Amino acid sequence: MRVAVLISGRGSNLRSLLEAAEAPGYPAKIVLVVANRPDAGGLEHAAAFGVASRVVDHRTFDDRAGFEAALDAALAEADLDLICLAGFMRVLSAAFVKRWENRIINIHPSLLPLFPGLDTHARALDAGVKLHGCTVHFVNEAVDGGAIIGQAAVPVQAGDDPQRLAARVLQAEHRLYPHCLRLLAEGRVHLLEGRSQIEGASDPGAALFSPDLSA
Ligand code: GAR
Repeated sequence: MRVAVLISGRGSNLRSLLEAAEAPGYPAKIVLVVANRPDAGGLEHAAAFGVASRVVDHRTFDDRAGFEAALDAALAEADLDLICLAGFMRVLSAAFVKRWENRIINIHPSLLPLFPGLDTHARALDAGVKLHGCTVHFVNEAVDGGAIIGQAAVPVQAGDDPQRLAARVLQAEHRLYPHCLRLLAEGRVHLLEGRSQIEGASDPGAALFSPDLSA
């Protein structure tokens, strides 16, 4: 499976995908990294792994249609099967999403459908949830609204602030995203009535308790 990764910033999720894809037998290959900012730190990861990268700077276009046309052209050249958004902070139009229907996935730092959008960690702490986490999902026209592929739950700990919680969620992101990409590339993710089913996945444990029952 030929994959492009779209980033806006430091690219730690990109790096986890690049690392996973180096393993023998991993079924996806990252062939292109596109950043919408020339200063995106993740571009260095692409270079370090010898992967082609492009900058399509949204600020150099008059409108979103122009930006997306340039993005689309850069992606079309790469003969892709899938686009992974990894900290890509531009909302893609319904028309763009339609063109790449079921071929764009994203990682989001919350247990969707809770906390779509920004500042997810601060909002989770404000809400007082005991379990937070991250989600890999298909991208559709609703922001953070497409079918869920996989999730990791991260217990909120006493003394968490948004930064500390974000750091633990990020560690889970780095494990979840390569795993979900592998499942997709192996053809084991099936969409049925807007929900995904994972073929041959082993069942996780029955429950994760927060606070822990031993306390
Ligand atoms: C990650 O936490 C990712 O889940 C989040 O941005 C961070 C990017 O970090 N994405 C979103 O909030 C998308 N709306 P990274 O650049 O180190 O991968």
